[in-house]
Amino acid sequence: KILAKTLFLGKEVIYMPSCHSTNDIALQMLKKPDNREGLIVITDHQTQGRGQRGNNWKSDSGSNLTLSIILKPSFLLASDQFYLNIITSLAVRRMIEFYVNEQGAKVKWPNDVLLNEKKIAGILIENTLQRSSIQWSVVGMGININQQGVGLEKATSLFEVTKSMNSLPELFEKLIESLEYYYLKLKSGKKEELKEEYLQHLFGFQKFRKYRTEYLFNGKIIDVEETGRLVMETAKGVQSFDFKEVEFLY
Ligand code: BTN
Repeated sequence: KILAKTLFLGKEVIYMPSCHSTNDIALQMLKKPDNREGLIVITDHQTQGRGQRGNNWKSDSGSNLTLSIILKPSFLLASDQFYLNIITSLAVRRMIEFYVNEQGAKVKWPNDVLLNEKKIAGILIENTLQRSSIQWSVVGMGININQQGVGLEKATSLFEVTKSMNSLPELFEKLIESLEYYYLKLKSGKKEELKEEYLQHLFGFQKFRKYRTEYLFNGKIIDVEETGRLVMETAKGVQSFDFKEVEFLY
């Protein structure tokens, strides 16, 4: 039973103990006429979880939040798709911040969430378009919660930081309340405010760090364009990068 205080998100939840990929199931459901905005597909285990750039997404069974949310942001132009990445990463960040109560939760461009500089969540958003607007959006998230010994140098979980087991249903409620809050903010046209909040929590914002493109360089993130391109100040002046063109080095 979901007790979240939401208007439309998560009013219908489909739980599967195991499945191939919640994003694939949600995308499949879009083909049926009775699909509904706010529907969530959640699982304990994925056999073919998908990540960004065609990577696999692997996660311990039963320890983490693995879900996909169906939204219908038909008020958004396709050129504004990046706002969905903004609101989703802000929502995950806010949920985590609630538990760690510190400044450690950051958003990493374009839409990872970091805790103490390690990745705690990955997001995969897949949209269907109708002419120049978005029709449906499937927002997939994998958030490491109770996984122990995550083991990867660059990854972490909420357990690794709080050293206590956390309630998945409670976290789920917080997550969808936060996402609905940001989504309704976007729907009411507050794009500027959302972008400002995203920049405020962005890892590397206004700080020089090392990055790699075809070469290594020092850069300072100074902005993110509406299209999602990352704008940096570098020794060559102001440069902007697309998703696959730049890599963060730690
Ligand atoms: C990434 O960081 O590469 C994105 C990972 C996204 C993983 C989630 S888990 C739930 C949903 N279903 C999938 O197949 N992928 C996303």
